[in-house]
Amino acid sequence: MPAPTKKGSVPPKNMYQGVPPPPYGNPQTAKGNQQQQQQQQQPPPPAPPATGGNPPPHDGKHAHHQHAPPPPQHVDPSREKAKGDTDSYYLPKYHPPAPAPGVEIDEDMLEDHVSFLRTVAAFHHYRSQSVAAWEMRKANFLKLQSQHKNVLCIDLDAMFKLYDECICRNSAFFESVCEASLELFMSYWPDGTTIARADIPPPTALDMDKVFSTLRQFVRDWSAEGLPERECVYKPVLDFFEKMYPTRDARSAVKILIPGAGLCRLSVELAYRGFFAQANEFSYHMLIAGHYIQNHCFESKQHVIYPYCDNTCNLVNRLDQFAEVAIPDLCAAEALDDLRDQQLEFGELSMVAGDFTEVYAKEHQQRSWNAVATVFFIDTAHNIIEYLQIIYDLLVPGGYWVNCGPLLYHFADSAEDMSIELSLGELISVAQKIGFAVCCPPSFIDTTYTNNQRSMKQLVYRCAFFVLQRPLDDAAPAVAAATA
Ligand SMILES: C[S@@+](CC[C@H](N)C(=O)[O-])C[C@H]1O[C@@H](n2cnc3c(N)ncnc32)[C@H](O)[C@@H]1O
Repeated sequence: MPAPTKKGSVPPKNMYQGVPPPPYGNPQTAKGNQQQQQQQQQPPPPAPPATGGNPPPHDGKHAHHQHAPPPPQHVDPSREKAKGDTDSYYLPKYHPPAPAPGVEIDEDMLEDHVSFLRTVAAFHHYRSQSVAAWEMRKANFLKLQSQHKNVLCIDLDAMFKLYDECICRNSAFFESVCEASLELFMSYWPDGTTIARADIPPPTALDMDKVFSTLRQFVRDWSAEGLPERECVYKPVLDFFEKMYPTRDARSAVKILIPGAGLCRLSVELAYRGFFAQANEFSYHMLIAGHYIQNHCFESKQHVIYPYCDNTCNLVNRLDQFAEVAIPDLCAAEALDDLRDQQLEFGELSMVAGDFTEVYAKEHQQRSWNAVATVFFIDTAHNIIEYLQIIYDLLVPGGYWVNCGPLLYHFADSAEDMSIELSLGELISVAQKIGFAVCCPPSFIDTTYTNNQRSMKQLVYRCAFFVLQRPLDDAAPAVAAATA
């Protein structure tokens, strides 16, 4: 298991070869500004399927565009050549649009927006980065002496053509994701961004790594291929809530918070079962990708992606590299129709962007949640005791904390970051001292995370599943939140 990548550091060369580590903490994140991203109680209005997007030409001549962010939507068609620019790259004239009436723009909002645009740029950059790797790999094969070439059992032209097609299709998919993401900041800037293009930093190596792992995250949360992983970790959580709240009609009053929700499958499944579910996420990669899959997919299997095409290690068969995965296996609109046919109500689903420790430590959040469900999340903490205290404070007396995951502390190897690493036993003891009662003691579930089932590299986590409860008779006054 490679060590978790430090904030802003360059990941090891083979970062997205084989099975990557869970994409923990992200410097490219939504900051304190909590932004209600989507509220889905009613079926989304019918809309045409997303276009495939226009992938840029793939001729290898565009390497100098590698760090250029995508042209903003409001680009002025009259384009002027940038001063001192010696190649053929043109910058658009920049006319910042005004913010929405009544919206006061502060520094945090601008900073958030820059981070967001940098993430969008990283998704656009998928193609050039993948093509660069493609070219390097092809060149290496071509360097072989004829004596070695002769014994190769690979049709190199056919293989690299297929590889190239997979990159093209992934890139077209990401273009659709990017296109849809522009609406996420529309409440601030209905006419487009107020950020000058030159102010958007180029995507870092870590930003790019997260783009590649987002493909795997789509597989985990939104494909039939991801079902075994979801059955291992989401199903026990769903089973618990279904058992505790057997009457479906009463579930809309049961508020469940899902911090570190990733691409939101667990929160959607909870709302599908009638609960009031709120997802929280701070990574723009996840927010942008999750927004697309939930709000811009109108039929199941709308897209085919090639999540493993950029990996050439640990292949059993060459075709494993080009395995296709259809997403989503469950489409929100179809699921709603399905419920309607059964005369059942969808619960409530919302997403709050922001750091869990900032958004949910606020005083008004205390004692307002019936349950908190964490899957592969608690080890993202700098200080896990703080997470435990926040979760406790969020719960109403009698409320549950349901957890499933390992303790792969994200900041454990970082010299710059604080990291408190407790064992599972210590964690449960600390939780009890905070006030939790043990409702279901830890049991262990072996599972993978964004795994490629075909690969010769398989990383299995022994996840702890447990349920703790804030006692019903906890009459202690709510603790004043430090950040309230
Ligand atoms: C390992 S992933 C798990 C995602 C999802 N729960 C799953 O099981 O697929 C952890 C997620 O937590 C998010 N995260 C980490 N720290 C966070 C924080 N302080 N606030 C909100 N989200 C956070 C990361 O962006 C990442 O998507």
